Amino acid sequence: MTSTTAQPTPTAAATFAENPLVDGAIERIIAELRTAQSTLTGAKPAAAELASTYQDYLDRVANVKGKPALYPYVGSGMGNGPLVELADGSVKWDMIIGIGVHAFGHSDPDLIATAIRAATRDTVMQGNLQFNHDSTEFGELLLAEAGRTSNLKHLFLTNSGAMANESALKICFQKNAPASRVLAFQHCFMGRSTTMAQIGDSAGGRVGLPLNTLVDYMPFYDPKNAQRSIDYAVWHLQQYINRYPGQHACFAMELVQGEGGFNSAPREFFEPMMKLCRENNIAVWIDEIQTFGRTESMFHFEQMGLGEYVDVVTIGKMSQVCACLYTEQYAPKPGLLSGTFVGSTIGLNVGKRLLERLRDGGYYGPDGKIAKLQRAYREHAAALVKKHPEWFPSAPLELGGELAGDELYGGVGGMMRMTPFGGNKAMITRALSVMFEQGVIAFFCGHGPFHLRFLAPIGVMKPEQFGEVFEIVERSFEIVASEK
Ligand SMILES: Cc1ncc(COP(=O)(O)O)c(C=O)c1O
Repeated sequence: MTSTTAQPTPTAAATFAENPLVDGAIERIIAELRTAQSTLTGAKPAAAELASTYQDYLDRVANVKGKPALYPYVGSGMGNGPLVELADGSVKWDMIIGIGVHAFGHSDPDLIATAIRAATRDTVMQGNLQFNHDSTEFGELLLAEAGRTSNLKHLFLTNSGAMANESALKICFQKNAPASRVLAFQHCFMGRSTTMAQIGDSAGGRVGLPLNTLVDYMPFYDPKNAQRSIDYAVWHLQQYINRYPGQHACFAMELVQGEGGFNSAPREFFEPMMKLCRENNIAVWIDEIQTFGRTESMFHFEQMGLGEYVDVVTIGKMSQVCACLYTEQYAPKPGLLSGTFVGSTIGLNVGKRLLERLRDGGYYGPDGKIAKLQRAYREHAAALVKKHPEWFPSAPLELGGELAGDELYGGVGGMMRMTPFGGNKAMITRALSVMFEQGVIAFFCGHGPFHLRFLAPIGVMKPEQFGEVFEIVERSFEIVASEK
């Protein structure tokens, strides 16, 4: 008996996706895009004839928001890798990339082609009730990466970091009910929902909010007193456990503190605390919303060799769609997590493409592209400190001691910091404003000392491009120093 296998009839969507005319049209758009963006080759001042239109845009921003924007930034809608064009015709090096979101810079042709294809799908948004295959593929990719060195098995997608964190907190509370307390590090940042604003260690972020979340703050690592700060943190944690036995649902940790000042700590700092959490049924929840993708492994817990301890992990920013990943043990009961939107069809597809490129593009490991960028950054920063020691006085530290010499710059992977002018807030703010004017967009971090924060577009930046960035930084510091 012979059997014939019938070819499945392709869906209308598959027929459309494979239509060479559609492909050709997209290629044509991308070719034109490349031509247009190739004119953006370096920093450039604003065009005088666009000044009044630009000011009008800024006034309208202020009207809509009810307050002026922090930076006089209105993008034109085009860029070229790490360079972005603003609506006043100026071109700037984008070293903050929307606080880490635009890891592949501006107008990346491959991501734009992906976005155009995604834009031809039937709906703009995808949800938890009705969805195409995109969110599953995105999730599978993330879980495959996370699962290599941890027990993370499932995830829930959200459209903000704060909402990923809310989901993580609910998971921890539900699993460890009735425990209702949260442990978190001093200087942490968790997002701006009412609960996350309470956990985040910033008084300004919760002015006027009623407090109904029980948070116990833990000291972070002190590199000046390394072993002592490790012993002290473990002692501190044990104190809390003794004081409130069985009442802690989770310990939320950033392995590199983002807003808090790009503070990092070695594995030896975290591991004993994670072990103590495990012994006491306290979930280890790693907030990787700022670190995700940009250190020497996609998940920073992997680089730190801490995967075996993690119960819940949250990610966001560069992934375009945010997520809360969890182990089988922490899987939520039905009804706990849902929401109308999962994300936009474009966000999901671009996010997936971007993760594939990060995974396959030689970015990770001690000799990967990201580690090389950090090294190039440090070389330039070291040269600047050496050339202009007058701009780099020591910066006093909160716990005593000071940052000096080569401690005045550093960071992890694509998270880079520098501490000129003694970490003085007013001087750092002024430096940022002059740098913006001169052609480099950065931001600050820390709660004192204050640091300049660079989140480099790791996906597209080349080490040699720090040359022009640092020329502008030097020129800017010169201006700031001369104003004193
Ligand atoms: C560590 C960390 N957690 C959570 C968040 C909140 O993310 P989102 O602003 O997307 O809500 C941020 C944002 O800066 C963050 O850096």
